[in-house]
Amino acid sequence: MRSDANIAGPMTDPVPGPRSESLGDDVSRETPSPMDDTPIGRAAQLAVQTPGRTGEALPRPENTRVMVVANQKGGVGKTTTTVNLAASLALHGARVLVVDLDPQGNASTALGIDHHAEVPSIYDVLVESKPLADVVVPVPDVEGLFCAPATIDLAGAEIELVSLVARESRLDRAIKAYEQPLDYILIDCPPSLGLLTVNALVAGAEVLIPIQCEYYALEGLGQLLRNVDLVRGHLNPKLHVSTILLTMYDGRTRLASQVAEEVRNHFGSEVLRTSIPRSVRISEAPSYGQTVLTYDPGSSGSLSYLEAAREIALRGVAQAGTGTEGLTVNYEPQHSMSEGNQ
Ligand SMILES: Nc1ncnc2c1ncn2[C@@H]1O[C@H](COP(=O)(O)OP(=O)(O)O)[C@@H](O)[C@H]1O
Ligand SMILES: [Mg+2]
Repeated sequence: MRSDANIAGPMTDPVPGPRSESLGDDVSRETPSPMDDTPIGRAAQLAVQTPGRTGEALPRPENTRVMVVANQKGGVGKTTTTVNLAASLALHGARVLVVDLDPQGNASTALGIDHHAEVPSIYDVLVESKPLADVVVPVPDVEGLFCAPATIDLAGAEIELVSLVARESRLDRAIKAYEQPLDYILIDCPPSLGLLTVNALVAGAEVLIPIQCEYYALEGLGQLLRNVDLVRGHLNPKLHVSTILLTMYDGRTRLASQVAEEVRNHFGSEVLRTSIPRSVRISEAPSYGQTVLTYDPGSSGSLSYLEAAREIALRGVAQAGTGTEGLTVNYEPQHSMSEGNQ
C-alpha cells in the first residue's frame, strides 16, 4: 500500500457541472438480483429457512482476527459493513463478535440488540473495567453472532477515558481477557479519530476501511492512515490496513467506476474485488433490527456481503500461510459481484 502518497487532495470531478443524478431515490437504484439461484444465494436462503448455517463453511482463522472498521467520515458504510460482514461470516460458520464502539449504537440497533441507557454495555467495559463477557449478548436469528452493545453513555467516554490509566488500551485488555472462542471480532468505530477509535486501533491487528463510491471518497483518509501509522509505531506493531471495501457502488454512474478505479490504483491488493452495491434492501434492514442477510437473503446486497466475507476469510488463510501482508490471493469469485455487473 502506498500510504505515503498524497491522497488528501480533492479528486477531479469527472462529471462536469452539478452532479444532478438524484441519489436520494434509492428505490429506482435497487439492483435487480438475478442471482437467487446461484450456490451462495441458495445457501443464504437455506441459512434463513433452517435457521442455521450456510452449506458452505469457510476456513476459520487459527487465531481470532480482530478487525477495526474505521473511517472518520460519517455515512460511508462503516456500521452497515460491520453488521453485514459479521452476519455473513457467522452464516459461513464462524463465531463472530461485533463490538459497537459508536455512542449512536447503530450497530446494536441493526443487530436487534436492546441498548437503552441501563443495558450493560461497552461503556462499562472501557470506563468501569467490567469484563467483556458481562456485556456480550447473542444476536437473535444468527447463530454464532454476538454483540457488545453501545449505549448513549459512551458519548461521555471520550472525555472520561482521558484521566484513566492505560486509556488507549482498555479495549485491548478487555478483549485479551475474554475467554470465549471467537474467529472474528469486528469493531464498529465512531466517525472520529478520538480515544474510542484509538482503543479500537490498539485492540486490532487489521483495519478495514469502507470507502463510499462518491465524490471526495479519498479525502481525509490520509489522516486515518497517519493515525494507523502512529498507533503502529507506538502502541501496536501488528496493526495494518488489511482491507478496503468499496460501498454504495452504483455501476450505472461513471463517477462510481472512476472512484473505484482511483481507489484500486491507490491501494492495490488491499481492495476487495467484491464491491457492495447501493441497495435499498441494505438501507431498510436496520429499521427491522436485522442485517440484510436475514431481511432479504437473496438480494444483491446480501449476496455481495456474503461474497466479501468469503474473500476476507480466504485472504486471511492465504496470509496466515505465508506471513505476507497484502499479497495477491488466488481468488476466483463464485459469481460476478464486481463493479460493472451491478
Ligand atoms: N450499500 C448500501 N446501499 C444503500 N444504502 C446504504 C448502503 N450502505 C449504507 N447505506 C446507508 O447509508 C447510511 C450510512 O451508512 P452507515 O453504515 O450508517 O455509515 P457509517 O457507519 O459510516 O456512518 C445508512 O443510512 C445506511 O443504511
Ligand atoms: Mg456508524
